[in-house]
Amino acid sequence: MTQFRKIITSLTIGSLILVAPVMAASQTLVPKTAAELTATECSACHMAYQSGFLPIRSWKAIMADLPNHFGEDASLSEAARAEIESYLVATAADRNGRDPRWLRKIPQDVAPLRISELPWFRNEHGSRRLAQAKANPNIGSISNCAACHKGAERGNYGD
Ligand code: HEC
Ligand code: HEC
Repeated sequence: MTQFRKIITSLTIGSLILVAPVMAASQTLVPKTAAELTATECSACHMAYQSGFLPIRSWKAIMADLPNHFGEDASLSEAARAEIESYLVATAADRNGRDPRWLRKIPQDVAPLRISELPWFRNEHGSRRLAQAKANPNIGSISNCAACHKGAERGNYGD
């Protein structure tokens, strides 16, 4: 019993020593900082759109042309650009190598740049909704998700 406990303890300590530096390294490399950087840099002009709304190829195309971003210059340092792209790619709609059903309707060689032009989005919102968004000065654009979806920034589009 005591011997068994000793083995467990030494295993735990041993693996902690091994794991701690790896955890520290991975935290600075990808998940947190890249997500935070994306949330900050990509919400300067509009809300930071959730990465799961577009496939990898779209994020790559967007991140490859930031100086000509929908009529704006959204340039970043190469370091920040690359880190944000890695985050968007790692969390994109087809991150698992599988296309969700809505994505299968879009040819592989087409990289849509707008969420608001995706077929599912058009079906969900309809042309009346698009016109309404444009006409209302408090909304201005259908890309202004948060004007209609109060929880948009938290990824909540249910109301
Ligand atoms: C300098 C301002 C600016 C910054 C910074 C910016 N954007 Fe944009 N973005 C725009 C404008 C303007 C539009 C077009 C909005 C519209 O049509 O109403 C847009 C649209 C988009 C769209 C399409 C929205 C739709 O209609 O579906 C995506 C996706 C997008 N941006 C991603 C990003 C990402 C990713 C970043 C961070 C790397 C970023 N943006 C940073 C100005 C900016
Ligand atoms: C002009 C207001 C308006 C804007 C702007 C808008 N939406 Fe919507 N959206 C709606 C409405 C209303 C519905 C619900 C449609 C219905 O249930 O008939 C909806 C539905 C949705 C749904 C489906 C929700 C569900 O639970 O089925 C998603 C996801 C969504 N919108 C995402 C977005 C995103 C992303 C943007 C920005 C790129 C956006 N919307 C911009 C009004 C808007």
